[in-house]
Amino acid sequence: MGEFEGRIVVITGAAHGIGRAMALGFAAEGADVALLDRDGAALEATAGDARGHGRRVLAIEADLLDHGVLVESFARIARDLGPAHTLVNNLGQTARERFSMFSDAPHEVLEFVLDISLHAAIHCSRQVVGAMKDRREGRIVSISSDSAFNGDLGCVDYAAAKAGVLGFTRGLAREMAPYGVTVNAICPGPTNTRAMQRIPPDAFERARAAVPMQAICEPEDIANAAIFLASSKARFITGNTLIVNGGRVFH
Ligand SMILES: NC(=O)c1ccc[n+]([C@@H]2O[C@H](COP(=O)([O-])OP(=O)(O)OC[C@H]3O[C@@H](n4cnc5c(N)ncnc54)[C@H](O)[C@@H]3O)[C@@H](O)[C@H]2O)c1
Repeated sequence: MGEFEGRIVVITGAAHGIGRAMALGFAAEGADVALLDRDGAALEATAGDARGHGRRVLAIEADLLDHGVLVESFARIARDLGPAHTLVNNLGQTARERFSMFSDAPHEVLEFVLDISLHAAIHCSRQVVGAMKDRREGRIVSISSDSAFNGDLGCVDYAAAKAGVLGFTRGLAREMAPYGVTVNAICPGPTNTRAMQRIPPDAFERARAAVPMQAICEPEDIANAAIFLASSKARFITGNTLIVNGGRVFH
């Protein structure tokens, strides 16, 4: 087993898509994983597959937009599994079917996108930083989006939230650096998960064609980047943004 053996990695939104790829990727690297998601059935399926790697897996069905549930879930991870070595803030999404131009956006949709794509990462990080500081060890990796740079049309709220993740990452990186804790962000481009799979085939094809590498990112591409940032090979990288998008947007 590699360097992740005995390390605890917490992943939010772990049942589907990028979170699921993270769960399987980190378990394959030897980590014990705590998986948080509100979709209990899909979470159990992912947890079962992660257990196939012979690691300890704690699956917690939780709505992370409920702050009390969020706090209790992290307390349970610390109690039942141990202190987190790595937190992956993966939870996030656009307004999806409630998508609109900003000038028409309902207040509750704006609040939802900011809550799920920015505030959840802040509140989850708040649960683990104290123990990381005490142990003088830890990694926080937050999933932003290349929309933070590109400002994709119709995703003003999402672009704002994901740019917020980058500012949060830089501020927290500076605070945690003296304690040997690194804090970084990954910006995926369009990635082959449920949201992309639901769009019409012609829109999917346009998204693919807009990527210089002529392909949609796979969830494993993002998981591999997170595994790198959580590893000792990235020990001196902090406050950084790693764009994984086949060249769609440079920064
Ligand atoms: N897919 C893309 O094209 C793409 C591109 C750039 C960035 N991202 C970012 O990557 C991350 C993962 O995206 P994805 O496409 O894998 O999403 P996904 O919808 O496939 O998976 C998200 C997971 O979060 C869970 N979830 C949703 N609301 C929850 C809640 N309130 N509490 C707990 N769990 C909840 C879902 O059940 C699901 O398992 C997000 O932050 C997203 O913004 C995705």
